Amino acid sequence: MKVRKVIITVAGRGTRFLPLTRSQPKEMLPLINKPLIQYAVEEAIGSGIEQIILITALGKHAIEDYFDRSLELEHVLEQKGKTKLLQEMRELSSLVNICYIRQKEQLGLGHAILTAREIIGDEPFAVILPDDIIDSPTPVLRQMIAIYEHYRTNVIAVEPVNHQDTVKYGIIEPEEISPRLYRVLSLVEKPRPSQAPSNLGVVGRYILMPEIFDALTATPPGKIGEIQLTDALQLLLGQQTINAYEFEGKRYDTGNPLGWLKANVAFGLKEPGIREELKKYLAQLE
Ligand code: G1P
Repeated sequence: MKVRKVIITVAGRGTRFLPLTRSQPKEMLPLINKPLIQYAVEEAIGSGIEQIILITALGKHAIEDYFDRSLELEHVLEQKGKTKLLQEMRELSSLVNICYIRQKEQLGLGHAILTAREIIGDEPFAVILPDDIIDSPTPVLRQMIAIYEHYRTNVIAVEPVNHQDTVKYGIIEPEEISPRLYRVLSLVEKPRPSQAPSNLGVVGRYILMPEIFDALTATPPGKIGEIQLTDALQLLLGQQTINAYEFEGKRYDTGNPLGWLKANVAFGLKEPGIREELKKYLAQLE
């Protein structure tokens, strides 16, 4: 069965970005001139996804407004003769079919995914965590869908992480199948370096079989009292295969100020019209 739907979770509190996130969703922070959430939506569309399910929460309405049509703005642009911008604005609101679910209590990533059970139904689906922005010629989700179509089983994205950083990621115990592809033997959420089964950390892209929902229902609260997707995947391993794919691309963790800043510099250095000035500016800082 084709992967047609993606869940994008935007319900997190964004504590690493306080105080900004008191009144602004972190997913609306700009990467150059587009909000972070738009990169996730464009990756999904570029991967052939037909329906996007955004899991939102209190205080996130700016995201819904962003993807909505603004007839008033269109009218102003039309009057000013700004046809190119007008067309871009219209395209943005017709990007794809987006539906919204409100996660009423923030009980973790696993719980957020569970709220979409009825909309997903009985088919494989993708998950994007939009903090992880991945710059790659082929969208990472498309790379993963190709793996899924070959093996017809769960696929999670991984990359090597620094030894001391295992506490920030789900970490897998891998068995190599081929270069960049592993069979997951076990996985653990945010282990201490001494307890990590490898240095392969889970990155925010998943292709999941619908059986994950039963696993999530059976998963008790784990790390920081939240229902962890990683724990549910560990449970699912008793019944299904999970492959881990070391994707091609450069990942930025934009969920914290330093990672967000690095992403902006890197993307700025690729942007004609910004690149040359930015290079000069960075050079004279040293
Ligand atoms: C989540 C997952 C973790 C994964 C990470 C990737 O953690 O729980 O397993 O490695 O995303 O970004 P979070 O970063 O939301 O704490």
